[in-house]
Amino acid sequence: MEYAFLGAGKMATAIIHGMVRAKVCAAGDIIAACPEPDLLESLRETTAIRVVTSNEEAAASAGIIVLCVKPADVEVALAQAGRALEGKLLVSIVAGVTIAQLRSLAPSTRVIRVMPNTAAMIARSATAYACGEGVSSGDKEVAEAVFSSIGEVYPVGEKLMNAVTGLSGSGPAYVYLLLEALSDGGVACGLSRKLALDLAVQTMLGAAEMVRETSEHPAVLREMVTSPAGTTMAGLSVLEAAGVRSAVIEAVRAAAERAEELSGK
Ligand SMILES: NC(=O)c1ccc[n+]([C@@H]2O[C@H](COP(=O)([O-])OP(=O)(O)OC[C@H]3O[C@@H](n4cnc5c(N)ncnc54)[C@H](OP(=O)(O)O)[C@@H]3O)[C@@H](O)[C@H]2O)c1
Repeated sequence: MEYAFLGAGKMATAIIHGMVRAKVCAAGDIIAACPEPDLLESLRETTAIRVVTSNEEAAASAGIIVLCVKPADVEVALAQAGRALEGKLLVSIVAGVTIAQLRSLAPSTRVIRVMPNTAAMIARSATAYACGEGVSSGDKEVAEAVFSSIGEVYPVGEKLMNAVTGLSGSGPAYVYLLLEALSDGGVACGLSRKLALDLAVQTMLGAAEMVRETSEHPAVLREMVTSPAGTTMAGLSVLEAAGVRSAVIEAVRAAAERAEELSGK
């Protein structure tokens, strides 16, 4: 079963690299299409996949179509692939475009809607996916195999896709902001910029790994490192007084609501 990527930008490149690295299939079983020949050529050179500028030609040669264009280009890209999409599995990573919208543009396809995040570029994505009508267990296995090659994969109902977008889709930006603030705090206390950022990054990674490896709730781990009248309590008191916890909750909610607004368009 061959894979055709419609769109060969940042996300398609990350997924193709992941698939080739993880040997999800042979590089020759992947074909990518986009309007930019230079982009295709560099992808071909680095991965040994096949490349074409025609969506129709790419789709015709594959059973699985992976849609990786920007939301504004979806209609044109699917129209260009045309009847070559019929009866195929359409896997879309396009933010905010629903399964119903995709099925109305490509009527006889089985659709899986996927939301990876930017860490796909280093194979550390948190990726959620939702299946449309008619998707088989074999189709799900295909999606799991493809997206496991760029990180962790979580099945969800489609109605939760906007919540996923608010959390893991937009989440990397929240974490970058927190990292920047942590390192600024270190600089304010006299650390060099480089050391402050290194310490902040390793602290964030270590804390996240602690949650994963111990399976403890973050509140339990936080309690464990907060001694009475100690330094951590002094810092946490400032965060709580500033409403950081509720601000983060509201950030996820606002991004999810914005995703809902955008998918209604
Ligand atoms: N970036 C993320 O972190 C992230 C996370 C989750 C989901 N997504 C979704 O992933 C999708 C792709 O994002 P990206 O960051 O990879 O964007 P990107 O780098 O701009 O890639 C889009 C690609 O689509 C190509 N394209 C445009 N029109 C086309 C057409 N008619 N047929 C085939 N290809 C066409 C573009 O070619 P040209 O350069 O020649 O225009 C480009 O190669 C978006 O829908 C986004 O919502 C992204």
